[in-house]
Amino acid sequence: MTTLWDDFKSQFAIPRAGVGADGIYLCSHSLGLMPRSVRSAMIDQLDVWASMGVDGHFRAVDPWIDFNLNCSATLAKWANCKPAEIIVMNSLTVNLQLALASFYQPRYNRCKVLIESSAFPSDEIAICSHLMVRGVDPHAHLLNADCDPETHWVDVDRLLTTIEDHKEDLACVILPMVKHDTGQLLPVQAIGQLCRQYGIIFGLDLAHALGSVPVDLAKIDSDFAVFCTYKYLCAGPGAVGGLYVNQRNFSASVPRLGGWFGQPSSIRFNVNERFRPIEDASGWQVSNPPIFSVAPLKAALAIFEKVSRADYFQQIAILRRHLQIALQNNLPDKLALLGENSVEGGAAMVCLQARSQGAAEMAIKELTRSGIICDRRHRTLRLSVMPLYNSIEDIDALITVLRGG
Ligand SMILES: Cc1ncc(COP(=O)(O)O)c(C=O)c1O
Repeated sequence: MTTLWDDFKSQFAIPRAGVGADGIYLCSHSLGLMPRSVRSAMIDQLDVWASMGVDGHFRAVDPWIDFNLNCSATLAKWANCKPAEIIVMNSLTVNLQLALASFYQPRYNRCKVLIESSAFPSDEIAICSHLMVRGVDPHAHLLNADCDPETHWVDVDRLLTTIEDHKEDLACVILPMVKHDTGQLLPVQAIGQLCRQYGIIFGLDLAHALGSVPVDLAKIDSDFAVFCTYKYLCAGPGAVGGLYVNQRNFSASVPRLGGWFGQPSSIRFNVNERFRPIEDASGWQVSNPPIFSVAPLKAALAIFEKVSRADYFQQIAILRRHLQIALQNNLPDKLALLGENSVEGGAAMVCLQARSQGAAEMAIKELTRSGIICDRRHRTLRLSVMPLYNSIEDIDALITVLRGG
C-alpha cells in the first residue's frame, strides 16, 4: 500500500548511490533534494525569456517584476507570520548584513552584539565585518555566549544570565533557532522576551529551522530573521534567501541600505526623487528578483502547499523519535548521541559525536560506501530526516550500517 509520504517521495530526484540503487539521503540540513518539477519550472522561465524578451517583466503569466512576491504567502504560513513580514531576496548572509544595517544602532554604551560561541562562520564573519564598517571594534564589542567546548551545546541558563549581565550594553542578540553543528533547539521565545524587556534588538538565523521545526515568528516576536531556502525547503544550491521583518519595524524611517526595488513599482523609475521605501518587508529589497533562482523555490513551495504543516511536523517527530531511540540502543562505543537524552521535540537534524576525528572520518566513509548520504563537521556527524522523502526504512538502514551489520 502506498502512503501519502511515498507519493511525496516520488516527486523528488533521489541521488544514486553506487551502482544502480537510490541512496538514502540524510543531508537536508545542508542541501535539500531536487523536486522533479523544478526542471520544467526552469524551462518555463527560459521559454518566457526566449519568446518575450524584456516583455517577460510585465506580460508573462507570472510577471518577473514581482516574481518573488508570491512566495511570501507560503513561507509566512510555514513560519507563522504575516506575508508582508517576509521577503524573498539575496542570500542569508547578505540579508543579515542588510538587517544589521537597519537594526544594529549602537548608542552611548549600548554597542555590543551577543552571538553563541561556535556560531556558523558566515554569521560571525558578517557581524564582525559589519561592526568594523560601522567603526565599532568587534574584539571589544562582540560577545560569545558559552557553549560546551567539547559538544558545542549552548548552556541556556548561562546564555540568559549573559543577557541579564549585559542588559545595559547589548544593542543586539543574534542567535540561531536551531544550532548548525548540534541540532540544539534554542528557547528563542524566552530569549526574545528577555531582549524586549531590556530594549535589545533580537535577530534570528533560521537556516536550520525552516522546514525542520515549527517556526512560530508571531510568538517568537524577534525584530528580524534571516533564512535560506536550499536546505529543507529544497530550492536548490545557492537558491535565493529571505528576510523577515517584524511589522513593528516597518516604518520607512528605519535606516537601510536601499535600492530601487525597495520602492513601490509606481515610483521605481522616477529620477531625482528621495528614497521612499515600501512600509513592509519588501521595502528592504535592493535589486530586481533573480528569476532563475526563485523559479525552483516556487516549484518546491508548490509541494509544501500540498502537505499540511501539522502532518509534516508530526512526521518529523515520528522519524526523529525512531532515529533517536534506535541510536540510543545501537550506537557503537566510538559514537555518542549529542544533546539531552529526551527523545521528545527537537529539530529534524540529530548529531552524533565520534571519539576522534579519525573515528568520524571512518564512520562517514562506511556510511558513504553503503549509500547513506550525510555529513561531518570535525568530530560531529550530522543526520537529518525530511518527511517528504525519508522513511522509517531509511533510518533502519542507517542503523544497520552503524552497527556494522
Ligand atoms: C546557520 C547558517 N547560517 C548561515 C549560512 C550561510 O548561508 P548563505 O551562504 O546562504 O549566506 C548557513 C549555510 O549553510 C548556515 O547553515
